[in-house]
Amino acid sequence: MTATTATRPADVSRKSGAITVDVEDGVAVITMDLPNEPVNKLNQAVKDDFIELIRRLDGDASIQAAVLISGKPDTFIAGADIEEFLQVRSSDDAERLSLDGQSLLDRLEQLRTPVVAAIHGACLGGGLETAMACAWRIGTDHPKTVLALPEVMLGLIPGAGGTQRLPRLVGLRNALDMILTGRNVRAKKALQMGLLDEMVHPSILRDVAVKRARQLGRGEKKPSVGRKQLTLADLALEKNPAGRAIVFRQAREKVRKQTHGHYPAPPAAIDAVAAGYSLGREGGLGEEARLFGQMAVTPQSRELIFLFFATTSLRKDSGVSGPAPPARDVHRLAVLGTGFMGAGIAAVSAMQGIAVRFKDVDHTRVAKGLKSVYDVLVERLRKRQITRTQLDDQMALVGGSVDYSGFRNVDVTIEAVFEDLALKHRVLREAEAELPARALYASNTSSIPISRIAEASKRPERVLGMHFFSPVHKMPLLEIIVTPITAPEATVTAVALGKRLGKHVIVVNDGPGFYTTRILAAYMNEAGRLLDEGAAVEAIDKALLEFGFPVGPITLLDEVGIDVGGKIAGVLADAFGERFASSESMQRVIAAGRTGRKGGSGFYTYGKDGKKGGVDQSVYEFLPTGTARADVHPEEIHDRTVLAMVNEAVRCLEEGVLRSPRDGDVGAVFGLGFPPFRGGPFRYVDTESAEMVIRRLEQLNSRFAPRFVPAGLLLELAERRRRFYPLDGKPV
Ligand code: NAI
Repeated sequence: MTATTATRPADVSRKSGAITVDVEDGVAVITMDLPNEPVNKLNQAVKDDFIELIRRLDGDASIQAAVLISGKPDTFIAGADIEEFLQVRSSDDAERLSLDGQSLLDRLEQLRTPVVAAIHGACLGGGLETAMACAWRIGTDHPKTVLALPEVMLGLIPGAGGTQRLPRLVGLRNALDMILTGRNVRAKKALQMGLLDEMVHPSILRDVAVKRARQLGRGEKKPSVGRKQLTLADLALEKNPAGRAIVFRQAREKVRKQTHGHYPAPPAAIDAVAAGYSLGREGGLGEEARLFGQMAVTPQSRELIFLFFATTSLRKDSGVSGPAPPARDVHRLAVLGTGFMGAGIAAVSAMQGIAVRFKDVDHTRVAKGLKSVYDVLVERLRKRQITRTQLDDQMALVGGSVDYSGFRNVDVTIEAVFEDLALKHRVLREAEAELPARALYASNTSSIPISRIAEASKRPERVLGMHFFSPVHKMPLLEIIVTPITAPEATVTAVALGKRLGKHVIVVNDGPGFYTTRILAAYMNEAGRLLDEGAAVEAIDKALLEFGFPVGPITLLDEVGIDVGGKIAGVLADAFGERFASSESMQRVIAAGRTGRKGGSGFYTYGKDGKKGGVDQSVYEFLPTGTARADVHPEEIHDRTVLAMVNEAVRCLEEGVLRSPRDGDVGAVFGLGFPPFRGGPFRYVDTESAEMVIRRLEQLNSRFAPRFVPAGLLLELAERRRRFYPLDGKPV
């Protein structure tokens, strides 16, 4: 009998409509394809259908084995449906959700008929937990095939057996690494670790999976136990409680250092994994469910899930309100200025297959810029994110020049020359003379209003700001700045380009310092005021690290350049007056010629290799209080700096610089390092309540008027007892 004659027509699941089963010669091919969704997610209806399916596989003697495969082009299963999470009201609810998931996957694992997971595309969270409960895992060698347990990124832990199955498959150390970082593992690496049993070309995935399922069904092959490449040391570790205790201790220590104790999920994940070793599988699962329940109701998880929704909704945002004109395709980009930012922009563009015309004033600088692009790409090669051929192809896309040759067929120009209006006007005029009329012209300025730059343009409606953050290849935000006359088509094209470069793109209206630079300046300026009053450099940085910023404001000032900070402060003080008046400390340190890291001397010391040392005590000689230090309480430090930033963010919304609180929160978190577990300045106000924020601002204003006058919108919010975001349901 041939397979074809034995094929039963497909039947489709009733509840979710996501599951189709084809039986081919005793092998059930289960195809998951959630209708009306770009990716497969595990929602309640899908889970109900899986339960039904398991019952059927168990009861149908004509089926000997099964294959689970996805009908989506780029995903196997992307994980649990996070929207369903919003209905979780208590830790008990969440614990129950976890126990249900665990029991479903236990039943899948114990099925009479072995199931082969045929994985192409993203296999994440609950998707990977499902695959791990299968008897065999085959992944495609396609770059889109990635496996991960990213739950900690949402403040959660894997809750459907992931903390128990993963260590058994790949060993304790690999498992902790995956669970604590949430990082994507590509198929090749997964194969080496034993997370995949085979790797094949996508074109043969289904056939190989069916064949393997049949072999497993007939007992010609044993179900996988993973652990392919475990070293002897790793294997010894699995059996040795004392060795494991060291691994757990090291992991806890690392997490504590990285999170400053702000994120409860990573230590909870370690506890769940550890429980599996000390209490056995059942006890481990119980702990996993209990801890999952606890994590699901933490404020940290709520904010991280908010950021997930906020960035997801931005991805669907064209950048203009109302009907959006289509974005133009961008094939060729020109980058003016091959310095620090220009090189970063060229690198991320080449990575996306965009040809880059690179221009600077002399060949030495062009060569330096090309070398910087190369360095970024080589780092990716080193991390095995690209192959040598891909590196060569991407590098070949970047061509340098000292004139405007090649600008005639450019779609978008991004200017990243020095922060100087006269220079920016000159290069704009020169470039426009060569560029086609349809081309967009974007400036990467960090503080000059775009309408000022556009004054030199013959086509000001095609001029906007594309403000990248440094280092460009690592920072996930792009702030697009539009003026009242920017053409909607220019905006949507720039937004689409930014998304293609892998960025979270917010669109803001023009103004001094736009959004991010303006609120950062308010924050940094307040740090300067604290220095004026005698607070110690390290005390300021420490207070904000403890608040949750990745670096303190004084360290950041050294990084950005004290002179650059001074210039920006000047622009903002001119625009907004006393509120932004530069601190005395800042002025004096600039006058002393200290520029920060780049000049080798700032608030901190820098070794010959550029490595940052401790506070440079000699800097105090320039400060108003000299070497006498005042003892300022950490709470006062973060209250003042953070509230200055938050209040300014609210003003930006009030003045229409920001389109929405969502953009403000995403901008602050992904551009400036505002602590993600606090959600952003607007979420912070909602958490603390507008009344409370106003009260604190008023107290500060009574000491430092007029810097802390509460934004009008805050007062309005408090008066009407409103919030920036709804209390329940999907936040954005
Ligand atoms: P940079 O000093 O590293 O590079 C500027 C480059 O522009 C130099 O290579 C210079 O030779 C080149 N240049 C000068 N005149 C030119 C001309 N006529 N034609 C072509 N190239 C010319 O400066 P960086 O840091 O890359 O900054 C560039 C722009 O990006 C500035 O507007 C800055 O405010 C902005 N920015 C900087 C950030 C940072 O962290 N460094 C962050 C965001 C924006």
